[in-house]
Amino acid sequence: MEKVSIKDVAKKAGVSISTVSRVLTNSAPVSEGLRERVLVAVEELGYSPSNIARSLRNGKTRTIGFILPDITNPFFAHIVRGVEDYIRPYGYTLILASSDQNKNEENHILDTFISKHIDGLLFTGTGDSNPKLLKRIEQGLKVVFLDRILKGVNSSYVVVNNFKGMKLLLDYLIDTGHRSFLFVNGDKNTFSARQRYEAFLEKMKSGDYRYEHHFTSFSYDAGYIFGSKLKNISQYDVVVCGNDLIAFGMIDALEEHGIKVPDDISVTGFDDIPFTKHFKPALTTVHQPIYEMGKEAAEIMIKMINEDISSVDGVILEPELVVRESTRRR
Ligand code: RIB
Repeated sequence: MEKVSIKDVAKKAGVSISTVSRVLTNSAPVSEGLRERVLVAVEELGYSPSNIARSLRNGKTRTIGFILPDITNPFFAHIVRGVEDYIRPYGYTLILASSDQNKNEENHILDTFISKHIDGLLFTGTGDSNPKLLKRIEQGLKVVFLDRILKGVNSSYVVVNNFKGMKLLLDYLIDTGHRSFLFVNGDKNTFSARQRYEAFLEKMKSGDYRYEHHFTSFSYDAGYIFGSKLKNISQYDVVVCGNDLIAFGMIDALEEHGIKVPDDISVTGFDDIPFTKHFKPALTTVHQPIYEMGKEAAEIMIKMINEDISSVDGVILEPELVVRESTRRR
C-alpha cells in the first residue's frame, strides 16, 4: 500500500502543505474551518506524520532510552514510572530494555538505542565500568546515571545515600541486641552492592560483632538458594539482605526449613518496594525514594537535552529505616 504523504492530505483538504503542517504541529493559529478540513482529510487518508522526517529536521526524536538491569524487579518498575510521569508532558517517550546484569546485552542495547537517535540515556549499569558508554559520553551522548554510578565517569547522577541507609539499619539492629550478622548482598560489581558492603564492613569493624558477607545477585532466587544451603542458622542473629527480593527468597527458604522469622532469626531487606509491607512477616527494610529517583533523573535529563545545564548535576536522596515484623529484639 503506497504511503500517504502530507502532499496528499493538502490536496484532499484543498489547503497548502504548510497549513497541514501548522495543524498537525499546533505551531501557529489556524481557523477552525481549515483545521476541520485537514483533520478530516488525515482521518480519511489514514495519514501518520513521519517521525524520522520530523526528527531529521529538528535533530530530536523526542525519545529517551533507559538501560536497566531487570524490569521485573519492582524497584526498577517504579523508577520507570517516575521517569515516564515526568517526561510525558514534555512530549518525550521512554524506550527501555533490561540488560539482565549482562555486559554484552547492555552494550547491544546501547548500540540499538544509538541507532534510534535517542536524545538522551538513563543508565543503571550491570557493573562499575563500561568503556563503550564512556566513549559515547565523550562523543556527546547525554547520560544520567540512575541508582548506580560508573567509576571515572563525569556525568550527572541520581542515587540514594546507601551508606546512610546501611548505618540506619545496622544501628537499629545493634540497638536491639543483634551481635552476629550474615550479609547476603547483591551483584558484586554494582555501585549499590559495593557501597552497602563498605558501610557494613565499617560498622562491623567498629565493635565486637561476628559477621560474614557474601555477594550474590539482586534476585529472589539468590536469596532462596542461599537460604536453602544455610547450616547452623543459630550462629546468626540476623540475615541482612542486599535488597528486598533477596530477603523474600531468604525468608521463604528459612521457613521451608522450619526456621521462623523473626522468632529464630531476624531478616532485613533494602529498597522498600511496595510488597514489603504485605509480605509475611512484613519486611523490615531501608526505604529508597524510588519514584522520586526516577523523576529527579528525568528532570536532569530534560534540562540536559534542552541545554539548560552543561555541568554535572549529582543528586543524593535520603533513605529511611522502616521497622516491621521480620526483626525482633534478641
Ligand atoms: O533491587 C535492585 C537493587 O539494585 C536496588 O537495591 C538498587 O539499589 C539497585 O542498585
